Amino acid sequence: MAESIPPVFLATAIQAVIKAGAMQLAGIDNLQIEKKGVIDLVTQVDREVERMFRALIAERFPDHVVLAEEFEVRGDRQNQAEYCWVFDPVDGTTNYAHGLPIFCCACSLERDGEPVVAAIYDPNRRELFTAERGRGAWLNGVPMRVSSATVLIDSLLCTGFHYDVHKEGDYVLALFGDFIKTTRAVRRLGSAAIDLAYVAAGRFDGFWEVRLNPWDISAGALLIQEAGGQVSTLTGAPFSSRLGEIVASNGRVHTQMVDVIRSRNRTT
Ligand code: IPD
Ligand code: CA
Ligand code: CA
Repeated sequence: MAESIPPVFLATAIQAVIKAGAMQLAGIDNLQIEKKGVIDLVTQVDREVERMFRALIAERFPDHVVLAEEFEVRGDRQNQAEYCWVFDPVDGTTNYAHGLPIFCCACSLERDGEPVVAAIYDPNRRELFTAERGRGAWLNGVPMRVSSATVLIDSLLCTGFHYDVHKEGDYVLALFGDFIKTTRAVRRLGSAAIDLAYVAAGRFDGFWEVRLNPWDISAGALLIQEAGGQVSTLTGAPFSSRLGEIVASNGRVHTQMVDVIRSRNRTT
């Protein structure tokens, strides 16, 4: 039976990601780009969008906590609070900073650590991906389903590379090679949230990535589960956004993906 989820939760997530999309498009011609690390960028829009979101939640749900990328203070509150909003103000910041139109805003609400509502908005294509636990997943209001591929060799997969890939990239690149050799093709779009939304929409048959943050994967994981797919850790264990890694698929090729990953020994 569907859980009781107040409609205002999904409405708030949708309101936030649509507003974020407008801010992203409005800011794109006048970006102030800074480095958080050697290849990890941040813009003033990432920060402005997150400020907007934190203000919205503080005003509407003062007892909820927010876990988001740019003003993150990790601590017990995020693990102890019943309701935690998990938010990426711009997912795909490298693309965004380079004028490549593949980026989005991702938002989920986790209840006791489990995503219950999710919204991802791609303002370039005006695509809004939403889900509610136990009720389904939608693309612009139309129900979404995962793909029907049953074998890896007929599958189109996607992956991403973490920001330490220059110094600790051997495992990531080796796994990329393993999947290149066992699938129809592998893509790398540069926005984990869009990648996951595309698995939910049946455009990709699967996705994997390591060393992610909760805001990269929480919303997308719920979209996939509600669209009939499967999410897990790299070894096939139950998914949690806090574990920082994901194998996501249409369900049918999930074990095959996990088998490829298991046969490669992970050292980084
Ligand atoms: C990144 C993107 C990218 C993924 C990285 C993420 P950001 O998020 O989702 O596709 O490969 O691991 O950190 O920094 O653009 O929000
Ligand atoms: Ca991200
Ligand atoms: Ca981000």
